[in-house]
Amino acid sequence: MERRLEVDPWRIVETGFDAAAGPDCMASESLFSIGNGAMGGRANFEEFFGGRTLQGNYIGGIFYPDKTRVGWWKNGYPEYFAKVLNSAFWPGIDIYVGEERLDLSICRIEAFRRELDMRRGVLSRTFTAVLPNGVKVGVKVRRIVSMAEPELGALSYELTLLSESGAEVSVTAFVEGDVRNEDANYDEKFWEPVALDRESGALTMRTKKTGFEVRWTQRTAVKAAGRPVSGRNVSENERIAERFVCTLKTGETVALDKFVGVASSLNHPEAELAAAAESVAQRAWAAGFEAVLAAHEQAWAEKWAGCDVVIEGDEAAQQGIRFCIFQLLQTYTGRDSRLNVGPKGFTGEKYGGSTYWDTEAYCLPFYLCTSGEEVARQLLRYRYRQLPQAIGNAAKLGFKDGAALYPMVTMTGEECHNEWEITFEEIHRNGAIAYAIYNFCRYTGKRDYLAEGGLEVLVGIARFWAQRATFSEPKGQYVILGVTGPNEYENNVDNNWYTNYLAAWCLRYASEAAEYVAAQYPDDYRRIVAATGLNAAGDEFARWREVADGMFLPEWTLEDGETVFLQQEGYMDKEQRMAADIPAEQRPINQHWSWDRILRSCFIKQADVLQGLYFFQEAFGGETIARHFDFYEPRTVHESSLSPCVHSILASLTGRAARAYELYLRTARLDLDDYNREVHEGLHITSMAGSWLSVVEGFGGIRVGRDGRLHVVPRLPEKWRSLAFELHYRGAILRFGLGTGEVRVVSVNGRPAEVVVGERCYRVDDRGIQVKVG
Ligand code: BGC
Repeated sequence: MERRLEVDPWRIVETGFDAAAGPDCMASESLFSIGNGAMGGRANFEEFFGGRTLQGNYIGGIFYPDKTRVGWWKNGYPEYFAKVLNSAFWPGIDIYVGEERLDLSICRIEAFRRELDMRRGVLSRTFTAVLPNGVKVGVKVRRIVSMAEPELGALSYELTLLSESGAEVSVTAFVEGDVRNEDANYDEKFWEPVALDRESGALTMRTKKTGFEVRWTQRTAVKAAGRPVSGRNVSENERIAERFVCTLKTGETVALDKFVGVASSLNHPEAELAAAAESVAQRAWAAGFEAVLAAHEQAWAEKWAGCDVVIEGDEAAQQGIRFCIFQLLQTYTGRDSRLNVGPKGFTGEKYGGSTYWDTEAYCLPFYLCTSGEEVARQLLRYRYRQLPQAIGNAAKLGFKDGAALYPMVTMTGEECHNEWEITFEEIHRNGAIAYAIYNFCRYTGKRDYLAEGGLEVLVGIARFWAQRATFSEPKGQYVILGVTGPNEYENNVDNNWYTNYLAAWCLRYASEAAEYVAAQYPDDYRRIVAATGLNAAGDEFARWREVADGMFLPEWTLEDGETVFLQQEGYMDKEQRMAADIPAEQRPINQHWSWDRILRSCFIKQADVLQGLYFFQEAFGGETIARHFDFYEPRTVHESSLSPCVHSILASLTGRAARAYELYLRTARLDLDDYNREVHEGLHITSMAGSWLSVVEGFGGIRVGRDGRLHVVPRLPEKWRSLAFELHYRGAILRFGLGTGEVRVVSVNGRPAEVVVGERCYRVDDRGIQVKVG
């Protein structure tokens, strides 16, 4: 494969730049994105760029309810689609050399290097360019979104004159508030100006409809040839701007440090916004860029501790997994339980909203293992806070008595996805939310969260399933009709195995959880019963168990006499073809076939039955998983970024090593190698958690077993000499070193933990263990 970016274990590196390569320029803007959990943005150039670009700076939790655009309105459709907002362009620097504006789309570029240092979280760029007027300049930029100060963006911009004669250079540092979303449904502008405060170099904007206010305060320090230069305030309209003009001789440099404080009404009372943004910018300015950078790097070092993955023998895989970890760490920090992990994080607009089932199904285990229990708990709390809205969503669709349907896409808990086949039918998402609670309890070995918030969520979800399932007289069983499974290439199907299985599981789990809380946390239980009316009208648990035990789970007997769980009723009536037979020029089918043709085909977008087997692998065992993998995977086109990772794990688990590795590369380097030619729109953040799972659960074979203990069963790809990773586990930080025939585990923080290797359970402490494996 020809790679546009260099392979390097800790860096993403681009050398050379072609302004005419439109989508590639935009792809780089996505790939080099930086953020700190609270805000972040695409790697747009600081200076003006006349080529193709998607400007993007996003602030967590700040959104706009864009009016829905559908062809034919149906009752129950959400009124709006929450858009993640492109906000003021804070890194702006406008450069003129003489009369000529520095714009890489019209310069001759002699050297160009862009680098994302994933260890330190620093985006840098160096280039040498000849402007159309013949003047040659060398530029070096370093930019961060501070991990140490969630409301701070900072950069250092140095321009050196390389031409033989001197020139006048004007450098304008600006923050531009007049920005738009490309994905606006009606070309509307989502922001309105509140105040441009020229004296304090600050701008306040307000979002329309949602009324969020954000204040940006800019502070700058400029030196030309080592001497301070004072600037002129040229702010106007929705732009804070300060211009510095100097005359440079050959070899001299003008250096600008810029600090922008970004404070929003999500975190501050409106009356205090100005002071908050000012204080962040002012403190950073007083400390200087190098000190701000050092604090940021220190914060990144702390983030990496306990979550690195080291692969020996495969640099491309190494870079791929670090990129995934880096992106996930900068998208969500767990500092704020109102935030979540958007499928595009802070790297693009597409998908809107911030929260999909991706969070529970894929991201939560990543944060739980790499960032610790508290961070993961924040994700659970997010859904707990939104329970009233989930009950509201269900009520809108006709469900009652506290049944909760969590949304497919949301910012506030309200559903904002508006394709009926997803909004109304892709209800399996409710199950993933219950599963995440179970997964959290299983991994931490603690069930206190059930009393804190989990049980209330489970009760709402169980009530939904108990009402959504209906009794079929001919079958004598409960059925769930008219759904969309995880495979979105089929809609309105009856008895999707995954949905039915998950629903039955949720019903049982909710009643077990209730019994547990009643016994262990009687005070909480009383509070929950009072709040939810649990069992007020008879024995709800009995009803839940009846539906669960009577749930219809479709199966099919294959020609060889073996049975498989059937994706949904009628699936085998379709013409059975294999994905490998689709001509390459017709892939991906979602870009080449009509939607009608896709729906009629047997092709599967992403793991569906296999998603269920992955979640509940202990209940099924290797042989069953292998049989289903061999049946479903060849029919799967993997056209969701969430697909290859689950399949890679199951392939590892069932000894299909080569396929596991192929699918792993496809997931871990999906964006770096731009497999689907769509990286210009942003990165696939949530599937990056899946990539991590394919390393740790797939190749590392880490899993909490039926016995409630942590097991490790290494299955390294042939090419890998060794695999090492760290996990937060029940208070310990465990470092695993897996090589051929050997497992080493040590507790890095000295806290002991139990780990099962082979058949034996070991107590691991700071002296570690080393065990031979077959
Ligand atoms: C997938 C969904 C997923 C969404 C956001 C879709 O393409 O089919 O399962 O939730 O993307 O990642």
